[in-house]
Amino acid sequence: MTAKKRRIHHFKEMKQRGEKITMLTAYDFPTAKAFDAAGVDMLLVGDSMGDNMLGMDSTVPLTIDEMVPYARAVARAADRAFVVADLPFGSYEVSPQQAVESSIRMMKLSGAQAVKFEGGRRIAAQVKAVTDAGIPFCGHLGFTPQSENALGGRRIQGRGEDGIKELVADALALQEAGAFAVVLEMVIAPAARAVTEALDIPTIGIGAGSGTDGQVLVWLDMAGVGDWHPSFSKQFGAVGEEMRRSAAAYVDEVKAISFPGPEHTFED
Ligand code: KIV
Repeated sequence: MTAKKRRIHHFKEMKQRGEKITMLTAYDFPTAKAFDAAGVDMLLVGDSMGDNMLGMDSTVPLTIDEMVPYARAVARAADRAFVVADLPFGSYEVSPQQAVESSIRMMKLSGAQAVKFEGGRRIAAQVKAVTDAGIPFCGHLGFTPQSENALGGRRIQGRGEDGIKELVADALALQEAGAFAVVLEMVIAPAARAVTEALDIPTIGIGAGSGTDGQVLVWLDMAGVGDWHPSFSKQFGAVGEEMRRSAAAYVDEVKAISFPGPEHTFED
């Protein structure tokens, strides 16, 4: 029997009963299929595809047009998981109208079930306009990679009493504007716990400790695709090593003329 498709009300119910929510990034059909089958609750078509998949220096240059085909592939693959697509830098900051237009465009062209973009009180009007338009919205606070240049690099957020207060105020503003969940990235654990306690909607942490309602990781970090991963992440597999091993075995067998063998060959 196929498990039920995840909807936004499920995530609030999971928070209420203390069941952790799982989210992973996904950028293509086969990866999204595997994660959907593995029981991941939410798939995030993150703008991290800019640096992780497309070789960009950061998420900043990525556009909606570049994201749509990937988001569409993920939405096609997800039978059970709820699919959230990021809005890239420059596609929502200007005005509530710009945010609604970009969100509608992303939803219509990709088939994702929700959008996510970065910021707290400064983009609350955009969030309200998007949720008033009937579009589920996931917030993103703490270290927000699209503002990396303004934040002075990849810095841990929420430090000190003021840091915690600011973060809680931003999170409450997003909840008030209609967000159904908030991602907390690279936030000290006490700040993440304070936000989680202050909100009715779930928090999903990445580098925010275990006190959030759920966890998200960039899948390439989680599965061990590259040689490096951030210190807050964990490699649950060694996919990069396995890719190198299988490609090297293929090269060896083709050179040695042992592949293709008779079982891979059509003689008539
Ligand atoms: O784009 C992304 O992958 C993200 C996660 C880091 C939460 O926003």
